[in-house]
Parts: sequence; structure tokens; C-alpha cells
Amino acid sequence: MTTFELDRQYVAHTYNRFPLEIVGGEGAKVFGADGKDYIDLGSGIAVNIFGMNDAPWRDAVTAQLSRFAHTSNLYYNAPAAQLAQMLCARTGLKRVFFSNSGAEANECAIKVARKWAAVNKGAQYRNIITLKSSFHGRTLATLSATGQDAFHQDYQPLPGGFLYAQVGDAAGLEKLVKENPCAAIFFEAVQGEGGVTPIGQDFADALSRIARENDLLLLADEVQIGNGRSGQLYGYMHYGLSPDVVTTAKGLGGGLPIGATLLGDRVCDVFSPGDHGSTFGGNPVACAGAIHILSRIDEELLLQVREKSAYIFDAFKDAPGFDSVSGMGLMIGLAPKKPARELAELALQNGLLLTTAKQKLRLLPPLNIPMALLESAVQTLKRCAVQ
Ligand SMILES: Cc1ncc(COP(=O)(O)O)c(C=O)c1O
Repeated sequence: MTTFELDRQYVAHTYNRFPLEIVGGEGAKVFGADGKDYIDLGSGIAVNIFGMNDAPWRDAVTAQLSRFAHTSNLYYNAPAAQLAQMLCARTGLKRVFFSNSGAEANECAIKVARKWAAVNKGAQYRNIITLKSSFHGRTLATLSATGQDAFHQDYQPLPGGFLYAQVGDAAGLEKLVKENPCAAIFFEAVQGEGGVTPIGQDFADALSRIARENDLLLLADEVQIGNGRSGQLYGYMHYGLSPDVVTTAKGLGGGLPIGATLLGDRVCDVFSPGDHGSTFGGNPVACAGAIHILSRIDEELLLQVREKSAYIFDAFKDAPGFDSVSGMGLMIGLAPKKPARELAELALQNGLLLTTAKQKLRLLPPLNIPMALLESAVQTLKRCAVQ
């Protein structure tokens, strides 16, 4: 049987896959089982931030793999401790809980917020406000946190205690806070799955003010926009916010599963032994790779991200076949006149890998994509859009 046939027969049908089997890659080029090369504008959905098969990351990972791959969290391991120190030094937050995915990082943030509120404000302050069109994961609690009804159907009853505010509607948010006992506000600086839309400076200021005035925690979901993709280390930094909790995953691992929940001053002592845990959280191999990834997200790389972003925004502004460009850094949404999925499939036939978000094409290229490949991809995409 071919891989397509095996997959269709034996793997649960949870993904609307494109008709391509990937067999390898080098940087921003991906090799298909069909013998063709593709330019990668998806990075495995914002994971491979230095592309496929990145040699220095692979070296960091294999060096740790040849020492040991796993130990339980009942013992210490140096890569996890060092990665936590680096994350704290780069953000000013104080401690890190490690897990294996974005959803788990967010589960941890939800637990921290609820326990902090129970201890500091009273058990009834359990509500967490999230934003409409947000996406926070696929576990039951993170699905419930996700402010999109479509994700809630078929899975009732979902864990309660989430209220949804509209991005841009500070008055509505304030009303929710006044009328309900709340613990926290949870936001993505740029909504990814919800349509690649930044929340904007005014609304970010409102989040900060409302949280401060009402003694709420601010929780930043940096799973997709984080780790350099925005053109700063984390997306919230563009808005001058100081979240109490930052969650991240995806690009931090550079290709291996990792989740991290960064805890600030107000919450770093909320958990005691036994309150939370994960068998694989802080896995030394994943952490060794992440140390390497984080050390490469420096000012020079961030500047390149901003320059490439400006190039893409400029290239698609007023481009025939597109209605708008949105996003931040190298997380860019293009609203095509054709149905987004149809255009993504056409782009695939023309050698480009990209994904969609709602009615948009979503561009998430590796942060170090060479300019020549990016230019070639942009020309191909423009051609496909009017074909
Ligand atoms: C903003 C955001 N949060 C959480 C998640 C869930 O991450 P994971 O799929 O690693 O559980 C995603 C995944 O796309 C995301 O974009």
C-alpha cells in the first residue's frame, strides 16, 4: 500500500491533508515523494523556524540524544534548567513549567490563573476572559477557551468559566469584567487560526488597563506568533504589554514537541509540588534543541524578519487577485479573491507549501528563508492568484 492508502485506512481522519508526502528537506526547501522540490511557506505550521533539517539544531539535539533522551521529572536535567533560565532572562518572567504542546502550555496557564484567583481573590473569581476568533488548542479546556462556536459543537459539556470579548471592544470587555467575577484575560497578540489579525495597540492598551484596574492576570498565548515570528521575541512585546503568564510551543522546539508556560512575579509561586506535572515535560532532547533555537533568535534575525515582512506586505498590497494583507512579522494573512483552499492547492501544484486560516492564506515561512526563495515564492503565488 502507498503512504496515502495506509494513512487513509489506519490514521484517524482529523486532517484535511494536501496530496503530498514529504520525504525530506533542506532549509526552506521541502522534498516530496513525487520527486519535486517545494518552497516552504508554512514551516510545519510555525514550527520549523530555521527550516527543515537545520544542521546546527540537529547537532544540538543529537548531542543530547547520545547522552540520554529522557529522565523523569523526579530528577534534575541541565537542558531544562538552562532553557528556563534563558526564557526568564529574555522576558523578565520568573519561572517556567514545561510541557509538550501549545494546548498543554495553555492548560497550565488556565490552572495557574484559577489557583491564583482562588488563593488571592476568592474561589468564585474563576472566570477567564478570552477573545472571539481566538484559538487556544484542542483539549477540552483550551477548546472552551477558544472563542469560536464552531469548535464547541459536538463536544458539550465543555469546562465552563470562559467568557468571550470582541477584539477592539474595550467597553464590552470592561462590562464582562464588572458583571462577572474574573481571574484573568487570555489573548493572542496576533490571532492566528482566527484569521491572522493583530489585536492592535489601542485594544492592547485597553487589555492592560482593564487587567490592572480590576486585579486580573494577563495571559499571553504566544504559541504561534512567539519565538521571533512577529519580528520581536514575543508578539506582546510589540504592544509594550507585561503579561503575568506567557505560553509558547511550536517554534521554540524548532521541530521537536515542547510547550512552555512562563510565570511572572505574581504567579511564580502559585504551584506547589503535586499541583501540576507532565511525564515528558522538560524533555532534555527537546530542551537542548530549544536552547539552540532561542540563542539564534537575536537582534540580527529579528531585523531580517521585519525586513522580509515589509517586503511581503509591499508585494501584496494592491496585488491583483488579493483583497488585503494582514498580520505581523512573518505571520501574514492574504485575503485572496479565489477560495483560500483552492488557491493553496493551486500553489502546491506550482511548488509552494502554505496553509490557510479561515478565508485567508496564511504565510509562515521559516524565519531564515533566503530572500531569493521568498521572492520566487511571492511571484509564483501572485501568478496563481490570477490564474
Ligand atoms: C495560538 C495557539 N494556541 C494554541 C495552539 C495549540 O497548540 P498545539 O497544537 O501545539 O497544542 C495553537 C495551534 O495552532 C495556536 O495557534
